[in-house]
Amino acid sequence: MVGSEGACGSLILVGCGKMGTAMLRGWIANDAASRLHVVEPEGTPPDFASGPPVEWHTAADTLPGELVPDAVVFAVKPQVVDAVLPLYRRWVRPETVFISIVAGKTLTGFARLLGAAALVRTMPNTPAAIGRAITVACASPMVTKAQRRLCDRLLAAIGESTWVEDEELLDAVTAVSGSGPAYVFLLIEALARAGEAEGLPPDLAFLLARSTVAGAGELARVSEEHPATLRENVTSPGGIIDAALALVATEGWRDLSLAAVAAAAELPIGQIYRLFGSKQAILCGLYRRIDEAVLAEPPQAEAGEHARDRLFDLLMRRFDALGPYKPAIEVLRRELVTDPLTAMCAGGSLMRSMFWMLAAADIATGGIRGAIAVKLTAAAYLSTMGVWRSDDSPDLARTMAVLDARLRRIERWLAPLHRPRGNGAPLPA
Ligand SMILES: NC(=O)c1ccc[n+]([C@@H]2O[C@H](COP(=O)([O-])OP(=O)(O)OC[C@H]3O[C@@H](n4cnc5c(N)ncnc54)[C@H](OP(=O)(O)O)[C@@H]3O)[C@@H](O)[C@H]2O)c1
Repeated sequence: MVGSEGACGSLILVGCGKMGTAMLRGWIANDAASRLHVVEPEGTPPDFASGPPVEWHTAADTLPGELVPDAVVFAVKPQVVDAVLPLYRRWVRPETVFISIVAGKTLTGFARLLGAAALVRTMPNTPAAIGRAITVACASPMVTKAQRRLCDRLLAAIGESTWVEDEELLDAVTAVSGSGPAYVFLLIEALARAGEAEGLPPDLAFLLARSTVAGAGELARVSEEHPATLRENVTSPGGIIDAALALVATEGWRDLSLAAVAAAAELPIGQIYRLFGSKQAILCGLYRRIDEAVLAEPPQAEAGEHARDRLFDLLMRRFDALGPYKPAIEVLRRELVTDPLTAMCAGGSLMRSMFWMLAAADIATGGIRGAIAVKLTAAAYLSTMGVWRSDDSPDLARTMAVLDARLRRIERWLAPLHRPRGNGAPLPA
């Protein structure tokens, strides 16, 4: 009888290959069942002792007639499962839960061969071999809460587990976690090959690739940061920019040292040098980062829409993206007055940003007229920034009102590359 904490009396494990072995080891180590009956045609694997709590059988027909198991776990290959299931039909009763780890075998497929049984279909993955699987389980309606707890306990032997109520999700689960390890192994191979191609000795390339994937995987598992943030910290200068701007906000720009930025970003100073080379370059990196965020999803041109509206949308997105850096920007505004070099760099970055905002809004940027449009947009943006700095409303209503007014004022310079479609009134030339 299954105990309230999911304790198991007798259990039958059918198939003791790779997955069965991994589960059995965990069950023995954790006293998951008081008696384990294992059916494995090959007999006792060499590294298992025969004797309590495990009783080994080479076929189902030698299992004791009086045996009443709490659980029967199927860990055979999909191609043999249909022939194997009917041999265990004699234990179908509400008190026995049938658990399958067989890939692709549905609850209906099980019920067809076992009849009205309490069934749990699961999908583990290969890290089960080291107790690090992630298993997703789905129960048929007959499975009781106590049997779910028993299942949790048995699956804990090979790692983590979770439940889904919709069995159809198991196909997607198979794609992500069931097949996922193969992609990770492929990544190790690819990294090692890339290292070799760059001249690393094969052993070292393999060591680096394997340890990198293992370490990064563990970091992603234990870290509170989203993997996207962890990735950005490594692959892009984002972490350095954030660290620098946080320092600017508290300690100012003038005395900011690159060594302090390196310490705050927890990176060697050589990496700051490689990626930026100067404080001003970090500031330009911020402009670029904000531009990239805004341009990642430029507004779709709608029929009849003015190019000015699209530009408004892009510039407001810029203000939204800059939100986290407001304290640092306030400091920079005060200090750049006495730092012409940085002011010049920031000015150049601003012009470049405005050029791209206009381009994304489908506004002409070529020739003298385009150059004037860039300059006027920069002026409109800068003067709106003064309002934005003190605009604490969640919807930035004051900022929107001022930006709208400023852009209307320069509208005649914002010539769209393509005339608005639909019923929109054409802009004055
Ligand atoms: N490996 C994975 O990464 C993974 C991941 C998710 C799910 N699964 C599922 O787990 C199941 C087991 O996979 P596995 O990798 O452990 O396979 P495996 O190593 O081949 O183990 C299957 C075992 O079942 C034994 N067997 C065959 N006929 C049997 C019978 N009539 N009664 C009892 N045992 C019998 C096999 O013995 P013989 O060798 O003598 O035939 C073998 O030892 C599969 O259904 C698979 O879909 C595996």
